[in-house]
Amino acid sequence: MSDPEATKPTLTTRQGHPVHNNQQQRTVGPRGPATLENYHFLEKISHFDRERIPERVVHARGFVAHGEFEAYGTIGDEPAATYTRAKLFQSKGKKTPVSVRFSTVIGGRDSSEATRDPRGFAVKFRTDDGNWDLVGNNLPVFFIRDAIKFPDVIHSLKPDPVTFRQEPNRIFDFMSNTPESMHMLSWLFSPRGIPANYRTQDGFGVNTYRMVNAAGEGVLVKYHWKSQQGIESLTEEQAAVIQGQDLGHASKDLYEAIERGEYPKWELNVQIMSDDEHPELDFDPLDDTKTWPEDVFSLRPVGVMTLNRNVTDHHNENEQIAFGTGVLVDGLDFSDDKMLVGRTFSYSDTQRYRVGSNYLQLPVNAPREDVPVSTNQSGGQMSYGVDNRGGNPHINFEPSSVAGLGQADESYREYRPYVSGQIMRAPIERQNDYAQAGERFRTMPQWERDDLVKNLVNLLGQCDKHIQEKMIWHLGQCDESYGRRVAEGLGLSVSA
Ligand code: HEM
Repeated sequence: MSDPEATKPTLTTRQGHPVHNNQQQRTVGPRGPATLENYHFLEKISHFDRERIPERVVHARGFVAHGEFEAYGTIGDEPAATYTRAKLFQSKGKKTPVSVRFSTVIGGRDSSEATRDPRGFAVKFRTDDGNWDLVGNNLPVFFIRDAIKFPDVIHSLKPDPVTFRQEPNRIFDFMSNTPESMHMLSWLFSPRGIPANYRTQDGFGVNTYRMVNAAGEGVLVKYHWKSQQGIESLTEEQAAVIQGQDLGHASKDLYEAIERGEYPKWELNVQIMSDDEHPELDFDPLDDTKTWPEDVFSLRPVGVMTLNRNVTDHHNENEQIAFGTGVLVDGLDFSDDKMLVGRTFSYSDTQRYRVGSNYLQLPVNAPREDVPVSTNQSGGQMSYGVDNRGGNPHINFEPSSVAGLGQADESYREYRPYVSGQIMRAPIERQNDYAQAGERFRTMPQWERDDLVKNLVNLLGQCDKHIQEKMIWHLGQCDESYGRRVAEGLGLSVSA
């Protein structure tokens, strides 16, 4: 048998120097003291001291897998080109590599994956035109509809700044003063709030986006990922058992399924609406606390995603991967959704802090290798290589009569919505905070409704009476029996 020691590559420092002794520091005699010129030891320890980067302020715990998206070439029954010129959707069978990060929201990077919490469902499409990120969740709506409230909703859900415990009283203090959260709470406290694992859940873009076709015409769009593994959820009791044994059961489930060759799949569907205010609806199409009724705005399949490759390094591909709602490609656009614009600022802002100003040079975040990156951006911490500057390394500006980069084709038809109006701080007109929450309650099977009421009663039972009363009032507005059942569970009357 060959000696494995003989075939191992030689251990080196990051300077490329061979390491002859990795067991002992350099010391004066065998008992020390240690010397400071011990480069190998200092490099090893000081790199270890810096092994972590700041964890994400939300969605800190997550797990990445890679795979591909295969387009149908159609959006429902029509050619994809009817609605979008985005290349990745145009032809049947066109494949685009993807990286997906599933996550929980509130806990830290080593926290339990069996908690009641939305799950992040972020997809990076590595398209011919550069990257497109679809940064979604497993629930179709959100707690708030204006980005200015995001730090508040997250602070209420995160641990108390003094006791460092997640406190129901803080959560429901905020929610009871935020009626638009009732729809999201009705999803979150139902069984859907604890997916059994990352494979058996759907995904939703949540915010409203636009698709733009070659003629420069836009439509409003919502994205849905439909799990081909079905939907499975956990009750509190089941989750408690799993969590008692393993904090990372969902990452393990995904990793092992891919290792076994059981590749999970999701079908991407879109709902489409003409790009206007839709006064006939009792909600605003740009309000992310609302779903679009599927009987009116049908789900139209556009392709299927398969995850078939695990990461080779959790830090490089999970901690450093950076998604953002501003990362769009030609043919896919923003809408005026007031959450979306705030999200678009926030993601790249936090990533410049969390990963560093050159985070887009990292292989996991850079566009595909065959997609040129030609910029005049240079320098900054950890600058890794220089982008294509058009052949003359002296010209890092534009315009230049000597060399350098030129602008892309000017015939490019940017979507140009017409906007006029008074600048103000004002809520949207059609808020309708309760109707869809009530509808959701009524369409749940009886056991899910019972579970929802039980879960709310459990947490509200730990809240101050005035907060309980406010929540019961809101839930009663959603559906009389919803409010009454939670009130009964708390031993309060509905008129409270
Ligand atoms: C205005 C509202 C929001 C703001 C300001 C916001 C901000 C953030 C920030 C700062 C991060 C950390 C990013 C990082 O460190 O790389 C994050 C992560 C994330 N957010 Fe949001 N968020 C908002 C709403 C939403 C909504 C509505 C969704 C769901 C559709 C969502 C889904 C996600 C996901 C999936 C991640 C994790 C991405 C990853 O896996 O790296 N967020 N968000």
